[in-house]
Amino acid sequence: MNLFELPLLRASAKATFTRCTVIVTGANSGIGKATAAGIVKLQGRVIMACRDLRRAEEAAREILQETGSDRSQLIVKQLDLASLTSVHTFCRDIIKPNVIKKFSIFINDLANLKCV
Ligand SMILES: NC(=O)c1ccc[n+]([C@@H]2O[C@H](COP(=O)([O-])OP(=O)(O)OC[C@H]3O[C@@H](n4cnc5c(N)ncnc54)[C@H](OP(=O)(O)O)[C@@H]3O)[C@@H](O)[C@H]2O)c1
Repeated sequence: MNLFELPLLRASAKATFTRCTVIVTGANSGIGKATAAGIVKLQGRVIMACRDLRRAEEAAREILQETGSDRSQLIVKQLDLASLTSVHTFCRDIIKPNVIKKFSIFINDLANLKCV
């Protein structure tokens, strides 16, 4: 998928996400990855909330390569939405002062999450 094919990102091509921190779940593949890439391209900062850190780091490298953006715009954090423990850990982790002071947008890419 071309990372910038999403209509929302095309429509907002003149807008920027400067000073915005956006949390994107499932940001290591598919729509979540394309969304993360579009936001960093528009100068936003993205917290990639992914359940597999290895895949997330790989996706972050690809996004930075493709967009030419700055590494500081992408923060990779572990989050398994099927685990409340993981959700709590993620929340505690991102509110640490050296991570973010506040976030502007939460994009939950997982519409059909099944908990077992
Ligand atoms: N693609 C379409 O045309 C389309 C159309 C309509 C709706 N949707 C919906 O849009 C969403 C994303 O679609 P997609 O095509 O981008 O799917 P995808 O490429 O399979 O991406 C799904 C992402 O969600 C992550 N994920 C799955 N379970 C998770 C969990 N428990 N905790 C955290 N992350 C988890 C996956 O991580 P892993 O890599 O670790 O598995 C992956 O990064 C889905 O809900 C899909 O049903 C897609």
